[in-house]
Amino acid sequence: PDTAAVSTDDVLHIAGHALPALAEQYGTPLYIFDRATIVHACQRYFQAFERYYRASAVRILYASKAYLSPLVARIIAEQGMGLDIVSGGELTVAQRAGFPMERISFHGNNKSTAELKLALQLGVGRIILDNWSELERLTHLADELGQRPAVLLRVAPGVETDTHRYLQTGHAASKFGFPLQNGEAKTAILRILGEGKLHLVGLHAHSGTMLRETRPYEECLVHLLSLAKAIYDETQWWPEEVSPGGGWGIDTPDQLGTPGLDQLAQALQHQMQVMLASISNGTLPAPTLILEPGRSIVARAGVALYRIGALKATPAGTTYLFVDGGMADNIRPALYHALYTALPVEHISVPGSVDYCVSGRYCESGDMLIDNVRLPAMREGELLLLPLAGAYCLPMASNYNLVPRPGVLLVEKGRVQVMERRETYDDILVRYQES
Ligand code: LLP
Repeated sequence: PDTAAVSTDDVLHIAGHALPALAEQYGTPLYIFDRATIVHACQRYFQAFERYYRASAVRILYASKAYLSPLVARIIAEQGMGLDIVSGGELTVAQRAGFPMERISFHGNNKSTAELKLALQLGVGRIILDNWSELERLTHLADELGQRPAVLLRVAPGVETDTHRYLQTGHAASKFGFPLQNGEAKTAILRILGEGKLHLVGLHAHSGTMLRETRPYEECLVHLLSLAKAIYDETQWWPEEVSPGGGWGIDTPDQLGTPGLDQLAQALQHQMQVMLASISNGTLPAPTLILEPGRSIVARAGVALYRIGALKATPAGTTYLFVDGGMADNIRPALYHALYTALPVEHISVPGSVDYCVSGRYCESGDMLIDNVRLPAMREGELLLLPLAGAYCLPMASNYNLVPRPGVLLVEKGRVQVMERRETYDDILVRYQES
């Protein structure tokens, strides 16, 4: 339809921008991030945690794997947060954004020697040690470069979560961290302290993602502090920092009622005090608490905007609504059975009357964004919006079927910035080397 003919009062807006106009100007599929929502999410963390700790005793790092661009890195820096990165690529984007290197923590279970070297050369604040090979390679590199890098040891704490199997990270069979149960974590710490070549500042554990209860965080804290006490008794070393990781969930159409961040802050404060009292009668100081939220910072800030192509009713009774994106820009429904909902963008006051299966444009039967959603009768050429698309959609995007990746905008009142320009066929062709 002629979007100009649609009443501007009956179309969705973000930060004062009418979505049909943005789609017209920038094309679809289009991901749109609202700056104010990102800022608000950052501030929520500070508000929740600063009520329970002195400001200096909590540090919030944004887990950039949820979504990173130089503009987002700048927002995070302005908010006074740090950055958790997992690759040389993320490090390079942070560097391009001028992100303060000392506020970066470098994670990952298989960092290459080149990545570790780059991190040391750029002066990354913390390296989170994951395994023996890395411990040896980093020690060697540090020697070579004449540095004594600050590290945290990542522990596999054996904490179970009740999320999708692919989303669990802290269980005993996890691929991440030094196992706690068989004593390897302790041996590694004693080795680092004995050699003295790395500056061990703390301990880290991460139990999983999409957590909607405080228990896994509390259990991580208990394990880390108990381990620290065992080390303290032998060496007098005590951590300056402890991190129970990231993973705080958000409400989704199938699961509402995620507890507030105040509850998490309160539970961790309480657990910290209980532990310090029980292991040291309160004589050991509380280490700085480090949190690494990803999803809960950006998920709500981003939406995906698609244009509807064909509609198809099957004899089996399914009515497909085909959109111009799909599994290559959002693999989450196919990979984790993640549930999304959709909203019409024009004539938004019309009630839903038809059950649609929203499917993408890719040559895969599994390319399904939403199995069933009730919408007003939709027509070819209209727009469809998927909310809660700010986390882990674009970072896991691919060029499947050699479809160019979507454009990405950052919007605020009175301003639209192209955060990532839409890919072109030339971007795809440039990768192929002709002999
Ligand atoms: N810290 C560590 C060590 C992590 O491994 C992760 C996430 C985070 C922090 C941030 O977790 P968040 O606050 O975002 O839940 N692709 C999946 C999510 C994978 C998360 C991996 N690690 C998804 O689409 O749901």
